[in-house]
Amino acid sequence: MYTILKDGINYSLEALEKDSWLRLLNGSIKYKDALHNPAVANVNQHGVNIRTVVLRKVKPVEKQLAFHTDIRSGKWNDLLQQNNISWLFYDAQARIQIRLSGTAALHQDDGIAEEAWAASTMSNRKIYLGKTGPSVISLLPVSGLPAAFETNDPTQEETLPARKNFGVVVTTVTWMEWLWLNSKGHRRARFKYINDGSFSADWVIP
Ligand SMILES: Cc1cc2nc3c(=O)[nH]c(=O)nc-3n(C[C@H](O)[C@H](O)[C@H](O)COP(=O)(O)O)c2cc1C
Repeated sequence: MYTILKDGINYSLEALEKDSWLRLLNGSIKYKDALHNPAVANVNQHGVNIRTVVLRKVKPVEKQLAFHTDIRSGKWNDLLQQNNISWLFYDAQARIQIRLSGTAALHQDDGIAEEAWAASTMSNRKIYLGKTGPSVISLLPVSGLPAAFETNDPTQEETLPARKNFGVVVTTVTWMEWLWLNSKGHRRARFKYINDGSFSADWVIP
């Protein structure tokens, strides 16, 4: 089995795969982590669209990643039509890029959305309180939020009308690629997932 020496540790492809998911898990938990704000891309009838999100949840065994969004947003509607999705992470300090792609499942009125909503802070819930959904043209440069909530967070009860706008996008990953930048030559590995979380892995030329 071929391994690479990184930070004093010998990594096999299997160990790298595990390490990558651990990094992703950390990114979902620690808001200052380099992997906390990835870019997520999808396609619609106009082409490719990409934006920054907050990495909210990672399930390493299930090979799943999740972000939260407004169900009135462009991406929600696009993903309903075409659920191919791609994620991009870069940790500049570790010099590691992780790319993942898979299929998105949209959760709005089920246990997954309910659990995520229950765990959301009032300031996170507040962004779903706008009467008009995201991307609607506005005469004035406004936030779309009720004025009172621009300065103060709503109470739990005041967030109730926002629940209907809140959704969770869960990606089940089918492909992951790891790239490590190194002055002695970069290294790259690719992982393809089969249904039950098992995978095939290859080293590839960077
Ligand atoms: C640091 C950062 C984090 C963001 N997190 C999210 C997020 O978790 N969910 C989300 O829908 N939009 C998030 N946004 C806003 C999106 O990048 C995007 O502007 C918005 O969702 C509209 O995208 P759409 O028109 O493709 O739907 C974030 C933006 C930044 C800069």
